[in-house]
Amino acid sequence: MAEKELVISKIKEGTVIDHINAGKALLVLRILGIRAGSKETVSMVMNVPSEKMGRKDIVKVEGKFIGDEELNKIALIAPKATINLIKDYEIQRKFKVQLPKMIEGILKCPNRNCITNSREPVKPKFYVRIEGDRVIAKCYYCGRKIKDVDRYVI
Ligand code: CTP
Ligand code: ZN
Repeated sequence: MAEKELVISKIKEGTVIDHINAGKALLVLRILGIRAGSKETVSMVMNVPSEKMGRKDIVKVEGKFIGDEELNKIALIAPKATINLIKDYEIQRKFKVQLPKMIEGILKCPNRNCITNSREPVKPKFYVRIEGDRVIAKCYYCGRKIKDVDRYVI
């Protein structure tokens, strides 16, 4: 490891989300449903130097193996994130997040007239895809496109 890299403690068991785009760790926590009042043991660093990415964020959730489906939602805001599932201090499984084709309940539709913003109990749902190096989302219900998905994370 390069001398200048910041070190945070290794964890005994749980989920490490590495190579998060710099500054996006808080959004990753939001996508995982970790917020004020949550009981999980969580450590996080933001904007640390990284050889591959220049700067990056890392999130570690102890004592919990987060499911693939939930983890893959992270690709929406951090398409290069890598997941490390840790047991007894060893990495059991390492994989890159994969952008799902469809994402439910994470983004809010910017269209005020969309059914997902009405009183109807309809969960927001978006088609998602990569265009160049950015993620584009399109509302399943009204067709509205979002090019800056970060701003619409619920
Ligand atoms: N990690 C951890 N606790 C452990 C083992 C690993 O928190 N018991 C974390 C490391 O701090 C690192 C990530 O899991 O953030 C991946 O670890 P490792 O594969 O050892 O690091 P790299 O080789 O740098 O990862 P990559 O190849 O994905 O860049
Ligand atoms: Zn819509």
